[in-house]
Amino acid sequence: MAPVADAEGPTWSDIAAWYDALLSGGSGPHETAIECLGRLLPDLDGAAVLDVACGQGLATRALAAGGASAVVGTDLSEAMIDIARRHGGTAGGPDISYVVDDAQTLAEFDDGAFDGATCQLGLMDIPDLHAALRAVHRVLRPGGWFAFVIGHPCFLVPDAARTDGADGRPAVVITDYFTEGFWRSSNPNGVRRAGNHHRTLSTYLNCLIQAGFDIDEVSEPRASGQLAAQQPLYEQVPIFLGCRATRRA
Ligand SMILES: C[S@@+](CC[C@H](N)C(=O)[O-])C[C@H]1O[C@@H](n2cnc3c(N)ncnc32)[C@H](O)[C@@H]1O
Repeated sequence: MAPVADAEGPTWSDIAAWYDALLSGGSGPHETAIECLGRLLPDLDGAAVLDVACGQGLATRALAAGGASAVVGTDLSEAMIDIARRHGGTAGGPDISYVVDDAQTLAEFDDGAFDGATCQLGLMDIPDLHAALRAVHRVLRPGGWFAFVIGHPCFLVPDAARTDGADGRPAVVITDYFTEGFWRSSNPNGVRRAGNHHRTLSTYLNCLIQAGFDIDEVSEPRASGQLAAQQPLYEQVPIFLGCRATRRA
């Protein structure tokens, strides 16, 4: 399997068990992310949905519980897919299939195979954003939808520094927003030690449009309960950006 990140630090497979334990214990950021994704989704009844860069299947299981009739999760990391399979499906929901594949090609999937696709906290981890969005476009039927959540590209910037605002509320200082590229968090207990591709907001939105999508809705969620308690900064600035778009014919 090709490495997900460069050779200098851990890959997603290296930290898959740690990531699963983090989510299984209850993670404030993931609670906020999945609520954001859920609010963006259309009616799932009867829909065939692909969850791209599904990791241990947090969003994949939510899709199955939400009424989709067929749910497939895919991720480049075999370790993540093994863990996702072990979590199984949801009571009363459809069976979930898991497939190891690269989001930049989605070569395992036929053209137009899905009514909808999701990608929760995955697009920042994928080196070639254009290729991934073209691949998602290809596997959707015309008129199909794509909903994603990413680390907010304006605030989760490599050099972002926490500070206190003039009124004492938590704030963040950004000085190098325009420099795009791969970076790793130096936090040994952070998710982004596996690496991240920083891109500007306009890069994300323009890639989406160029890949053949119309943007339907954009969301910047305020931190929900657990995250607000853990990191009050994210009550002041959004930690995530969510979007739903429709595949043009
Ligand atoms: C932050 S995790 C998100 C996982 C899951 N969607 C969630 O919400 O918990 C990022 C995931 O992207 C996957 N990933 C990175 N590059 C990928 C690629 N080129 N194709 C498919 N998955 C990839 C990683 O293996 C990892 O599981």
